[in-house]
Amino acid sequence: MSGPGCIEGVPRHVAIIMDGNGRWATQRGQPRSAGHRQGVEALRRTVRAAAEMGIGVLTLYSFSSENWSRPQSEIRFLLELLRRFIRTDVAELHRANVRIMVIGDREGLDPAIRAMFEEAEALTRENTALKLVIAFNYGSRQEITRAVQLIARKVAEGKIDPADITPAVIGNHLDTGGLPEPDLLIRTGGEQRLSNYLLWQCAYTEFVFMPDYWPEFGAEHLRRAVEAYRMRDRRFGGLKAQTA
Ligand code: IPE
Ligand code: IPE
Ligand code: MG
Repeated sequence: MSGPGCIEGVPRHVAIIMDGNGRWATQRGQPRSAGHRQGVEALRRTVRAAAEMGIGVLTLYSFSSENWSRPQSEIRFLLELLRRFIRTDVAELHRANVRIMVIGDREGLDPAIRAMFEEAEALTRENTALKLVIAFNYGSRQEITRAVQLIARKVAEGKIDPADITPAVIGNHLDTGGLPEPDLLIRTGGEQRLSNYLLWQCAYTEFVFMPDYWPEFGAEHLRRAVEAYRMRDRRFGGLKAQTA
């Protein structure tokens, strides 16, 4: 089964909504922060497994535009975890030929965090193995709004004719411009919603929802999700490949 964007059935782009850290911890009588800490371990396992499976792009939802509504103490903890992850893991990811990219709104972010993202991106820019895309301060509606503003500015400057605005032009103005669209989206934690993630990009993505909480996730879960994906018949509005 090797449709467009597949290498022997392996999805080219996998997007994950890493959900359920808090519930995982609460279930164990631990503070939510313990779930976030274990969530980083699951992230490490998943990046390793994705690279081994030959997945081209892995996009991870690490902090949404709406997550700022959480208690200050939890936000502070999450930012610190992210900072520590970048500080301790980037060198190893670089050695593994992983390219790091960050999507989301950087305007108004702590300058230290912005600088950290820029350094990680610059260091790994030429790497050719897995593309690890971290969605931070990311909201799909906000991303689309920024793209519309960018395009409107170009129209006002006479650089784009409104008649030339196509879905491809819009796609290229999103933070994910240049990346293939996700073939497979996985959400852990049992909820079956997108929570403002990759709304434009997921027009024809296959969804796999898993009840397991994110801190439990690992290579085996990823393999299971990819297996489920391979059983799907992607028609893109057409007919089954065999009957076409
Ligand atoms: C996902 O786990 C991590 C982030 C959203 C940053 P949650 O923190 O949402 O955990 P639950 O969904 O409350 O269990
Ligand atoms: C989505 O999870 C965001 C991340 C995983 C970073 P949430 O826990 O924020 O989503 P809702 O609130 O359940 O929709
Ligand atoms: Mg959640």
